[in-house]
Amino acid sequence: MILKVLQRPQAAIYKMKAIVIRHFGSKEVLEPAEMPDPEPDEDELLVRIHAIGINPFDWKVRKGLVRRVLPKKLPIILGQDFSGEVISVGSQVGDYEIGDRVFGTVNALKGEGSYAELIAAPAKNVATLPANMSFEEAAALPTAGLAALQALRDKGNIRNGMDVLINGAAGGVGHYAIQIAKFFGAYVTAVCGPENLDFATDLCADEALDYTKVDYTKLKSRYDIIFDVIGNRNFRESVPVLQPKGVFITTKPTFRNYLQMLLTRFTGKKSRNLLMDINEDDLWELKKMAEAEQIRSHVGGLFPFEQAGEAQALSESAHLRGKIVLQVLS
Ligand SMILES: NC(=O)c1ccc[n+]([C@@H]2O[C@H](COP(=O)([O-])OP(=O)(O)OC[C@H]3O[C@@H](n4cnc5c(N)ncnc54)[C@H](OP(=O)(O)O)[C@@H]3O)[C@@H](O)[C@H]2O)c1
Repeated sequence: MILKVLQRPQAAIYKMKAIVIRHFGSKEVLEPAEMPDPEPDEDELLVRIHAIGINPFDWKVRKGLVRRVLPKKLPIILGQDFSGEVISVGSQVGDYEIGDRVFGTVNALKGEGSYAELIAAPAKNVATLPANMSFEEAAALPTAGLAALQALRDKGNIRNGMDVLINGAAGGVGHYAIQIAKFFGAYVTAVCGPENLDFATDLCADEALDYTKVDYTKLKSRYDIIFDVIGNRNFRESVPVLQPKGVFITTKPTFRNYLQMLLTRFTGKKSRNLLMDINEDDLWELKKMAEAEQIRSHVGGLFPFEQAGEAQALSESAHLRGKIVLQVLS
């Protein structure tokens, strides 16, 4: 996309502000830069970004932890999630107009990036803003909301009355997972740190367990779904607390977890890996849930655009409540 824009005549190049990395490393490698405005393809929308949702994946890219799967050479613009206003519409896009308020996500592994004033986003990666959400609340939603929905519904086959345990329930994915599991009618046990127990029950978790005092794998309870959001537990240690047909779901796609998934394909208790899929229908589903007040975003940290480094440092601390958001336009 950027290469294409660079080929435009000089007069047509505007310079948007973006945050790029030219090297992998600590938060100091985050660099404000002027970049050519993106030019949307026929199936894309050009969006003026108002807010950016931070995900742990952003600093994993920055640190070079996923460099093997990054298709583009540095520099790249970081980030996935955004909300903003449509300022131009590709010729093949039917359902949007200039001025629409949207939220969505791009595939960071394709080298696209949302830490910018403008983004060219495929229309299939976008939905209109929930009417009852601010730009900041909507920017928090895409990746974490999709992950929570797809884990519970598609990997866990969640049903009314099931017992669901969520490990890492206070963070981005976890706080949506509590609400989505309640939406499906589950009995929800949230595992979080001592400072977040009330937060979890405020989100309607039926029980909240302090992981500094309780090891869930030693409980007498049996769960239909264990969603290990934080990725610090594994299937084998969770087996004793799974129901005979229970499912363990992890966000950590390690070799061992893939092996467990294959080995448990035809067994009662199953191990499943989550790989979030950017899916238009699910973005619209999240919007519907938000508008019906079945889910809400908790923005636990709001930073100005220029303070992306501080925002990522808070995300890296792994002890946050809800989501961290960068404000580009107020
Ligand atoms: N595979 C995928 O498709 C996919 C999609 C989205 C995210 N992810 C991954 O999922 C992970 C979580 O993402 P996120 O956005 O939810 O992260 P996050 O917002 O940083 O949340 C982390 C949460 O984990 C809790 N935590 C820390 N130590 C814990 C422990 N020992 N036991 C239980 N909870 C603990 C923290 O709460 P306390 O303060 O209460 O400790 C914090 O709220 C990340 O690694 C991310 O990259 C994967």
